Amino acid sequence: MKKVAVVGAGKVGTAMALLLQAKGFEICGIAGRNPTTVQETAKRLGTCGTLVPAQITKIADLIFITTPDRLIEEVCLQIRQDNGFGPGQVVVHMSGAMPAGVLGPAKEAGAYVLSVHPLQSFADVEQAIRNLPGSFFALEGDREALPVGMEIVKAVGGEYFLLETKHKPMYHMGAAVASNFLVAVLHWAIKIYQQLGMTQKEAINALWPLVNGSLKNISALGPVQALTGPIARGDLSTLKKHLQALGDYQPENEVLYKVLGLYTARIAKEKGSIDDTAYNRMIQLFKGGIN
Ligand SMILES: NC(=O)c1ccc[n+]([C@@H]2O[C@H](COP(=O)([O-])OP(=O)(O)OC[C@H]3O[C@@H](n4cnc5c(N)ncnc54)[C@H](OP(=O)(O)O)[C@@H]3O)[C@@H](O)[C@H]2O)c1
Repeated sequence: MKKVAVVGAGKVGTAMALLLQAKGFEICGIAGRNPTTVQETAKRLGTCGTLVPAQITKIADLIFITTPDRLIEEVCLQIRQDNGFGPGQVVVHMSGAMPAGVLGPAKEAGAYVLSVHPLQSFADVEQAIRNLPGSFFALEGDREALPVGMEIVKAVGGEYFLLETKHKPMYHMGAAVASNFLVAVLHWAIKIYQQLGMTQKEAINALWPLVNGSLKNISALGPVQALTGPIARGDLSTLKKHLQALGDYQPENEVLYKVLGLYTARIAKEKGSIDDTAYNRMIQLFKGGIN
């Protein structure tokens, strides 16, 4: 049985500890910087809590550093300086943006390092416990540590794929586009309906079946075939009405509409639902006013 130490008692660290414990991993301790959070989490796990990570990492086989990204390297270095790492240990962080290489101080002590990034978004611990199972995880780092990464993912009920270190920024950008830009675009749509007098809740309720339908279509047909609407039809008069309404109500978002319009027109062309003339007219319309 693997002994696991978790440094960073936040959403992901706590959820991982609870899920792994439920699968028989021994959680030998949890470390953090807020005494109250650490003690509460340690109590929940029935393990020891500490403000000095090296105290628990030195007795572990598998160490998670689940602090905010900007602190991973610094915390890792501190543990190394406190002699908290040893040969053969596997040290993991769960950042999508950082490579496993930021765990360099652990490697210097003979440990293997790995990044195990869940392709998911977690607002709190309970949501993370619910959503980690079934998520895809990107594994990147030392070849020797990959079997442990696979074991972790299997234990929490996820699926994995391997990632080359040089691809990590592109990979993370893909995740940010899918998750963060989706939020931004829906924020915009909800604001438009609020401007028509709906409450936020009414706007979300009204848009939700449409959003859900689009997501289902993407999943079933792929994004190109899922594209419907005026751009897919090459309906220039409707697009002009949209731009007129934007000018009246949200002039600040005109450029955003046009930039997204340009991208969407390329999808329509790929779909083959518009001819070259319709495509070129739309490109002309959307490029107007964009430098
Ligand atoms: N949340 C997500 O949606 C998500 C998704 C995928 C991957 N991840 C990755 O998961 C990792 C953890 O993210 P999270 O969302 O769980 O963050 P989080 O909820 O903010 O938790 C981070 C924890 O680290 C603790 N911490 C801060 N400084 C520390 C230090 N010097 N020593 C020990 N502990 C320290 C924090 O304590 P305080 O509360 O006292 O500051 C907090 O409990 C990150 O690498 C992130 O990129 C997150």
